[in-house]
Amino acid sequence: MKKAILLLGAAFLSGTLALAQRPRPTADLPKWEGVADTPQMGWSSWNCFMTEINEDLIKATADAMVELGLVDAGYVYLNLDDGWHGERDASGFVLEDREKFPSGMKSLADYLHARGLKLGIYSDAGDFTCACYTGSRGHEYQDAITYAHWGVDYLKYDWCFTTNANAKGSYTLMRNALRKAGRPILFSICEWGVNKPWEWAQDVGHSWRTTGDIGPAFAPVPVSYDEQGRRKWKPMSVLEIIDINEPLREYAGPGHWNDPDMLEVGNSATVDGIFYDMTDSEDRAHFTMWCMMAAPLILGNDLTKITPETLAIITNREMIAVDQDPLGIQGLRLKNEDGVQYWFKPLADGDWAFCVMNTREEDVTITLDWSALEVNDALSKRRTDFAGTTYSVRDIWHPEAKPFTTRTKGRRKGQFNVAARTVTVPTHDVVAYRLTPVK
Ligand code: GLA
Repeated sequence: MKKAILLLGAAFLSGTLALAQRPRPTADLPKWEGVADTPQMGWSSWNCFMTEINEDLIKATADAMVELGLVDAGYVYLNLDDGWHGERDASGFVLEDREKFPSGMKSLADYLHARGLKLGIYSDAGDFTCACYTGSRGHEYQDAITYAHWGVDYLKYDWCFTTNANAKGSYTLMRNALRKAGRPILFSICEWGVNKPWEWAQDVGHSWRTTGDIGPAFAPVPVSYDEQGRRKWKPMSVLEIIDINEPLREYAGPGHWNDPDMLEVGNSATVDGIFYDMTDSEDRAHFTMWCMMAAPLILGNDLTKITPETLAIITNREMIAVDQDPLGIQGLRLKNEDGVQYWFKPLADGDWAFCVMNTREEDVTITLDWSALEVNDALSKRRTDFAGTTYSVRDIWHPEAKPFTTRTKGRRKGQFNVAARTVTVPTHDVVAYRLTPVK
């Protein structure tokens, strides 16, 4: 008996010691690796439905993602944005809103997983989310455990109601909690670029928002004021976001992406009584630029009412391949001539994506003179060689068009001339090509 008590005592003591030696829950843990080697692709409820979400809508969206071929094209995350939270239970664990999601979050995750999809969820580093549901502040470990238990694969973590909080500290705390919870979860930082996350978040999250909230507007929306003379909130346009996101290219790479916000392709919105919408040309330009900038591709339109034009834009495999290129280098703007922008993105195997975006109010006809488009990119240590290499050029938006080359054979043997080509770029539209060196 005595021996047994002694043994028990020893076991208790070594258990206590082991506990004491275990890392405290607040110790830094690495972020999950391997979940965002290329920019994440999926759909989110916010841009179209805001907080008006429920189980039927999400299941119908999941079914549409499968039937429309979006899952096959790579859009695997189905992300619930703000509006899913219910109350916390007596111990502080978060519950889903059972009126909106009667079967519960775990069952929704099972539904998605069975269809090749992954579940994304949303919370906030502050006391409340931006739409005033419960925030995760003070509940980070509990929430991470809950998400892991439900089978969540993605967390977008917002920055409302965070008075006096330190951004790096708050996001690092949730990163640790997600790691500790044991399920790989992609961590999407959303503090709108106000604390320059590109400077500190490479080891914290897998992407960080670089701007305020997007709206379905191509060109900047005019500023307006309320009766007290205060500036009213307005959505950011595609062109404004591009200007903010482009200079941040050095910070992006596999596992850590600049996030210029979710897509507005196929979407429209009324803000403050003003109706916003984009033409198919503007949608195409928006989508192309997000791919050129290696941005996360998170759709934001109603998939149960999609037009063939919208579907053609978001499922263009060659454009998606530009976004998802394994090198993971964000594209660069080579020049902007009176609103006609020339963009390049280095791709694997010596390829380049090249696009011209026309932001002007009229169509433009330009000459693609390759000798005036030579790129020498210090960041990627890649340069084009239009003088010495022939590239085969494929038109990404017109894959049926015959590819052409950047050089033509001269009269004498072994002589090549750099070619030029005239193209028309419609207003608020793009031409986009993939250049492949001819061996
Ligand atoms: C913030 C985010 C948006 C969206 C809303 C939800 O504004 O930037 O993307 O998540 O909150 O309330």
